Amino acid sequence: MRVTSYRDPETGGFAFSEEAKAKADAYVARYPEGRQASAVLWLLYLAQEQNGGWLDDAAIEYVARYLQMAPIRVHEVASFFTMFNHQPLGRHHIQVCRTTSCWLRGSDEIVAACLEETGCGRLGATSDDGLFTVSEVECLGACANAPMFQVGDRDYFEDLTPDTARAVVRALRDGKPVQPGSQSGRTSSEPPADNRRTLLAEAGQG
Ligand code: FES
Repeated sequence: MRVTSYRDPETGGFAFSEEAKAKADAYVARYPEGRQASAVLWLLYLAQEQNGGWLDDAAIEYVARYLQMAPIRVHEVASFFTMFNHQPLGRHHIQVCRTTSCWLRGSDEIVAACLEETGCGRLGATSDDGLFTVSEVECLGACANAPMFQVGDRDYFEDLTPDTARAVVRALRDGKPVQPGSQSGRTSSEPPADNRRTLLAEAGQG
């Protein structure tokens, strides 16, 4: 591996647990000798998970040291992807998509509803009760069900209106079960019922 001169990473007190280290080594082993840097996203995920859901400079630079990368290169990766958080989050991280399909379908109103219902007040802030952080993110790949937001690492809530967005927030606050997926009742990204009937009729199957 070619090593250029760069300042030493400042890892603070951060270090992988034995469990995380075993996973990190397994990820690194997937790549050819000298290409350890290819594992940087995996290791940042591990660091974020161990650090309670966010990355501080110490965790980022620990990954740089682990992979023998210049610290600035790892900071660049960590600051580019929105799945890496740079401050502590509330228990529920609501990530509202704001890209084209969602924006055309009302993501501005979804953001406003989330900010008001959670009490966060502004994007990136955490509510006083520590329950919520609301962020805006780019396309999450559910454009056919716009507008939508993701909660936590994996749950998508789709076909939102301001009212259904508020209902999801209230359920999360009250610890009630929530049902990810379309909030309008349609199955997956099938056409809404009215449109489906029209399409079937046009195809002579209605
Ligand atoms: S534009 Fe929002 S999911 Fe793609």
